[in-house]
Amino acid sequence: MGGPGGFRGGFRGIDEDTQRQRNASAPRIPDLGRRVAALFRPYRRRLVATAILVVVGAAVGVIPPLLVQRIFDDALFPVDGSSPQLGLLGVLVLSMIGLFVLGAALGIAQTWLTSTVGNRVTGDLRVRMFAHLQAMDLGFFTRTKTGVIQSRLQNDVGGVSGVLTNTVTSILGNTVTVISALVAMLLIDVRLTLIAVVMMPVLILVQRRVGQVRARIAGQTQESLSELSAITQETLSVSGILLSKSFNRQRAESDRYAAENRTQIGLQVRQAMSGQGFFAVVQIIMSSVPAVIYLVAGFFITGDAVPITAGAVVAFTTVQARLLMPLMGLMRVALDVQTSRALFARIFEYLDLRPAIADVADALDVADAPGPLGRIEFRDVSFRYPDAGPDSPATLDGVSFVAEPGQHVAFVGPSGAGKTTILYLAPRLYEPTEGSVLFAGADVRSLSQASIIDRIGIVSQETYLFHASIRDNLRYARPGATDADIEAACVAANIHHVIAGFEDGYDTIVGERGYRLSGGEKQRIAIARVLLKDPPVLLLDEATSALDTVSERVVQEAIDEAARGRTTLSIAHRLSTVIAADVIHVVDAGRIVESGTHTELLAAGGLYAELAAQQVAAARIDGAG
Ligand SMILES: Nc1ncnc2c1ncn2[C@@H]1O[C@H](COP(=O)(O)OP(=O)(O)OP(=O)(O)O)[C@@H](O)[C@H]1O
Ligand SMILES: [Mg+2]
Repeated sequence: MGGPGGFRGGFRGIDEDTQRQRNASAPRIPDLGRRVAALFRPYRRRLVATAILVVVGAAVGVIPPLLVQRIFDDALFPVDGSSPQLGLLGVLVLSMIGLFVLGAALGIAQTWLTSTVGNRVTGDLRVRMFAHLQAMDLGFFTRTKTGVIQSRLQNDVGGVSGVLTNTVTSILGNTVTVISALVAMLLIDVRLTLIAVVMMPVLILVQRRVGQVRARIAGQTQESLSELSAITQETLSVSGILLSKSFNRQRAESDRYAAENRTQIGLQVRQAMSGQGFFAVVQIIMSSVPAVIYLVAGFFITGDAVPITAGAVVAFTTVQARLLMPLMGLMRVALDVQTSRALFARIFEYLDLRPAIADVADALDVADAPGPLGRIEFRDVSFRYPDAGPDSPATLDGVSFVAEPGQHVAFVGPSGAGKTTILYLAPRLYEPTEGSVLFAGADVRSLSQASIIDRIGIVSQETYLFHASIRDNLRYARPGATDADIEAACVAANIHHVIAGFEDGYDTIVGERGYRLSGGEKQRIAIARVLLKDPPVLLLDEATSALDTVSERVVQEAIDEAARGRTTLSIAHRLSTVIAADVIHVVDAGRIVESGTHTELLAAGGLYAELAAQQVAAARIDGAG
């Protein structure tokens, strides 16, 4: 059951957090490592195969330097001073080449395995996030910028893909190479090995510090990226561009974008540069080791220490040189992993969001509800939007009404009175703060939300259409609908003749959000869409307010047709459209102040009569003009 305001989970507005995150680093997620590891669980087998390939590959890679020692000391310049052993030399050289070929083949197989695993894990994460966001409540979307949501899905998930793809092999491969190189070095000469690794602990400490800095920058970079996509999304949409053009704000928008872009560039450069100095030092130290080795070897040979062969020196420096790349690789991976923590934290933060409205464990299907389908009841419902302050007046205050199956119940009242909010509560798009909403006789909180939505058709105040053909937009309501069904719905919605007049008919692309269509056309397509769904309950949000008298009548006919035989809750600004309603509730400041039929309410001489008088006067002006 929902708590007060149906607002569960520790979610604070993500937008308001923008500033917090710019200053601090990424959100804290406990056991992040374990959760990232869990992402790989479905691919265990492939990971094991990768590990085997990596270990074999590393083992294969460690042999050639040992062969080098043999080539020098046994074949080319035998230590006993005899002449070169060409037969042995041939065998050794061929073995070396064979090992290189084998190593390359193993490398290809390993790349295939890791790139499939990495990309699938990334893909799984993306789909999981998408599905999770779809389950979020309406309130989440009203308080979070679309661009910011998109950015988590694209930039953050995309950002970890490299880490997911390369980390496992890189860690495995490089660790094995480093260990095997160390073993080979120890086998060749213990003293030289100690000299070669004396700086390692210091480097590792420095590396950790660099990683922390990088993680913080990464968090800020992602935050700035999401701000960039939010600006793009807000400005470069049809509504956004219309707004900025109509206020001549393109320059200002470009400047805003450019400013955020500068932040982004700065962060990217900082991220790229952080650690470069460190890596330069590592490289210098590692590259200088052979020189030091030669020097030390000189002392070994001339001094009292156990002398050393030329083959050992060459082999040792060969192995040591092979150590450089994997060691740097390991350090880079460690850095990347630390950096990606910030991105993973952002991803899991979203995945951890609990929708404020979720079905209870034993949610009832509407079919099993005790009351008749189509009956809607509000019992003393009070409601406050989750992000409205606790001290603000309630949006709805003690609203009670019943809509019996098949009845047409209308809501009228001033703007901001709470009419749309009432419609949101009926299908549980929000949950009441107090009181209860009953659908088919059961509290909506005990019902499965999907089963409520299945039985409801909504024509909202703003019609939303996808950038697709009219046919596809209509079929969204019922994927199995035939062309004949679609046409019948459009005839009933009074829109068929308009669509038939378009050059491409039902294949006309409506454009982003349906901008290709007029307001009235869009509304009627929305009505046709609901008719196709054919639900027992209709919610109509003042579909006629923005239309002239003729279009209004056309839309009104469509609505009357749609409402026939269904429970209909409708909101209207033009009172002419609700004259026929069974009950009209007049809503003012979140309360139902009057109820009755058109005639009763006129006779009562209250707010309704006042609104009606205003509209009559307005109509007279219209008529005169
Ligand atoms: N997501 C929201 N968060 C906070 N407050 C909201 C939200 N949506 C609406 N409100 C507020 O709730 C009140 C009622 O809004 P509602 O949309 O129900 O009004 P309405 O009666 O439909 O108005 P209109 O006739 O203009 O459409 C308004 O004061 C509005 O500012
Ligand atoms: Mg409204």
